[in-house]
Amino acid sequence: MRSHYCAELCKDDIGKTVELAGWVNTYRDHGGVIFFDLRDRTGLIQLVCDPADSKQAHEIASHVRDEYVLRVKGKVRARGAGLANPRLKTGEIEVVVDELVVENESAALPFMIGDESVGEDVRLKYRFLDLRNERLQRIFMLRSKAAIAARNALDKMGFIEFETPVLTKATPEGARDYLVPSRIYPGQFYALPQSPQLFKQLFMCAGFDKYFQIAKCFRDEDLRADRQPEFTQIDVEMSFVTQEDIINMAESMLKEVFAACGYDIATPFPRMSYAEATEKYGSDKPDLRYDLAMIDVDDIFERSNNEIFSSIAKDKRNRVKALKVPNGDNIFSKRQMKSFEEYVRKFGAQGLAFLQVKEEGLKGPLEKFFEPSDLDEIIARCELKVGDVVFFGAGKKKVVLDYMGRFRAYLAEQMGIIDENAMKFLWVLDFPMFEQNDDGSYSAMHHPFTMPNNIDEPDLEKITSIAHDVVLNGFELGGGSIRIHKSDIQQKVFAKLGIDEAEQREKFGFLLDALSFGAPPHGGIAIGFDRLIMLATKSSSIRDVIAFPKTQRAQCAMTKAPSEVSPEQLRELGLRIRESKKES
Ligand code: AMO
Repeated sequence: MRSHYCAELCKDDIGKTVELAGWVNTYRDHGGVIFFDLRDRTGLIQLVCDPADSKQAHEIASHVRDEYVLRVKGKVRARGAGLANPRLKTGEIEVVVDELVVENESAALPFMIGDESVGEDVRLKYRFLDLRNERLQRIFMLRSKAAIAARNALDKMGFIEFETPVLTKATPEGARDYLVPSRIYPGQFYALPQSPQLFKQLFMCAGFDKYFQIAKCFRDEDLRADRQPEFTQIDVEMSFVTQEDIINMAESMLKEVFAACGYDIATPFPRMSYAEATEKYGSDKPDLRYDLAMIDVDDIFERSNNEIFSSIAKDKRNRVKALKVPNGDNIFSKRQMKSFEEYVRKFGAQGLAFLQVKEEGLKGPLEKFFEPSDLDEIIARCELKVGDVVFFGAGKKKVVLDYMGRFRAYLAEQMGIIDENAMKFLWVLDFPMFEQNDDGSYSAMHHPFTMPNNIDEPDLEKITSIAHDVVLNGFELGGGSIRIHKSDIQQKVFAKLGIDEAEQREKFGFLLDALSFGAPPHGGIAIGFDRLIMLATKSSSIRDVIAFPKTQRAQCAMTKAPSEVSPEQLRELGLRIRESKKES
């Protein structure tokens, strides 16, 4: 129906007769001559309907409103002197309309297209309108280019694209499963995959050597700005490789994907151990766009004459961390410094002490607990200068690292020191194999299929794994590992997780079988594709980069899913809903 896209027209087209199709973006009636912008996925062009040129077109145009769908035929001309619009790509030209057809009308809009001040609920309810927003259109066109770049990069490296089942058995990645009831086997359920983890390992057992999939994953977990119940991974697996090979492959692929998004990223990425990341930055996904690293001062606090501090510092399961804020004394008021304490209390801190660096030395309520030589040592170790402030967190290791890590990020935001244009990639390596849950039990830090370095070590906390996470600007962009390819090691890991032999057979019999028939050494990684696009487009929410996302409450505001089903459907599935469940 068209000869050109709107914003592909340029000065070279002046004098040409063109046919365009699209939506009315803005409409202005200037005393007899009607101007409006026509929009398609490329952008806008100004149309002019002058009764002197075409009475018929002008008559129809006078009834046109925002978001009507039009087809026009007309001539491209230069705009009059001084009338160019420098904000528009096509701002130097316009199309004088000869023929105009209204293909469809539009009801009154619930919001102006592109108005992002409107509540997200309304925008998600009318997502098909919100997606007309130029910013979102650009995101989805870029998402497509990035997916194609990933495919091409992996294809060039010899990877084979596969599909894996969506109706499957539970795949443990640490979240709750979405379950699908079976009609044929009442009382039995499929689980939607949390990732294609086990299937991709089976492709390695089958000898395909290099697998990839742009895969849908489903996890029933609490939603956040970077989490959706249904998301996409660039999922990769390779045989006969070392961790180094996987890292190199991932860097080459990410370089091409980010190039498609307009970034020239530098490889190789820096690397850091899990221990260093958590001890220095209080996070296994540190944001390295700013420094604010933590410094250990346990030994100095151990010598303090304050009973509480010295006893906390003595216990090796605890931590005392200093966080230096350069020039903090001049940036923050006393009141703000006190308010930081309220912030960290939300994450389990007992308090947040600080010292200010004055000409005379360290000043603050903590001062009296230390010998002058120890105060000097704090100055030296933290490399403090007059005007700096140093905050201290003390307590249980896990709690202190967590709240000081959050505080570090909060401070950076308050201080406005985050370089929004930076792209700081990082590999985090040398992970513990297991982590302790609040109830004392242990879970796999990545997943139970990760190769441990020393599975026979009796202290679970000392077992490490060959895992790798790639971090970008404080977000976990991807994660993976070398896998267990021997069934005896796999069984030992299951046993350490408290999964007895009967349960191992019942849940993972197929995997143990596959590992026992000549499984090759293998490993891989999965990159969170939505997160990648979120970061590449500087979007503040993952919902902006998913065409039809769920709300924070895991609902689809447009289709109203999840929704009740008919009693017949329930009966067919052998299900009954408890009344009390419905009410809660
Ligand atoms: P993992 O669980 O670390 O690893 O997931 C890999 C990446 O997927 C993204 N991601 C999410 N994105 C949006 N919403 C979510 N709810 C969500 N959960 C995860 C993250 C994360 O880094 N099978 C392993 C990979 C492997 O070992 O190869 C896995 O799924 O960016």
